[in-house]
Amino acid sequence: MAIRIDGKALAAKVKARTAAEAAKLPRQAGLAVILVGENPASKVYVAGKEKDCAECGIRSFPHKLPAETTQEELLALIEKLNNDPDVDGILCQLPLPEHLDEEAVIHAIRPDKDVDCFHPFNVGRMVIGRPVFLPCTPAGVMEMLREYDIPVRGKRCVVLGRSNIVGKPMGMLLTQADGTVTICHSRTEDLASITRQADILVSAIGKTRFVTADMVKEGAVVIDVAMNRDENGKLCGDVDFAAVEPRASYITPVPGGVGPMTRAMLMENILTAAKNHLGL
Ligand code: GUN
Repeated sequence: MAIRIDGKALAAKVKARTAAEAAKLPRQAGLAVILVGENPASKVYVAGKEKDCAECGIRSFPHKLPAETTQEELLALIEKLNNDPDVDGILCQLPLPEHLDEEAVIHAIRPDKDVDCFHPFNVGRMVIGRPVFLPCTPAGVMEMLREYDIPVRGKRCVVLGRSNIVGKPMGMLLTQADGTVTICHSRTEDLASITRQADILVSAIGKTRFVTADMVKEGAVVIDVAMNRDENGKLCGDVDFAAVEPRASYITPVPGGVGPMTRAMLMENILTAAKNHLGL
């Protein structure tokens, strides 16, 4: 039976470390959080981030905007926050309502305040191995692997999903940790034959029970990044947990796995931004 990786406990440890560091700063670190519209999942995520900030002694500046907000209004707010010295990080919760241009918004956030690590400048810095920030979800996964002494060097790593937010940067961080990485996606042929080679399998697809036991090698490390709802509305990941757990050596639960780690790594990025702004 697999060891369950306790993301909730590790996130508490990371946040305690961040809070201790944040308390030493000559002024409080600050995060501006922008939420446009009424997406219920986004509201829950934003509330969680505000709670984490409070736990870490970081100020949060909420900006809850109506769904009808125009692109010009949103960009004007970002410009104001870019120039606000109390704001170290700016997070605009995605997805945005259809009429807004997410790419333009990501580009508008000044790279030194881009605590999501979505701006092409920060993505580029990460790719060349000179990161300012690390993308929160992939960084959270790497922290889990380190905490549980799971080696990456020389291992076969398979990532399911090629999103800019998770799949692509996950592949990059595993590569930088000397893993041998394959990124799979919806067009991958004979997927199971590839996933069965994985020593470390990271799934970020967004499909309930997509990863079945026959896709997993005996003894593999299985990391489930997804946050889906099953047919009963229950929170679950991509992995058929009950079937896969007996085959895996380590496995992350959903909830209580990667999710809390994503939020904890965001707090680390805010601390980094504040330190950089303070010249520390
Ligand atoms: N929507 C889903 N995940 C994220 C995230 O990590 N950051 C932002 N800004 N929006 C998201």
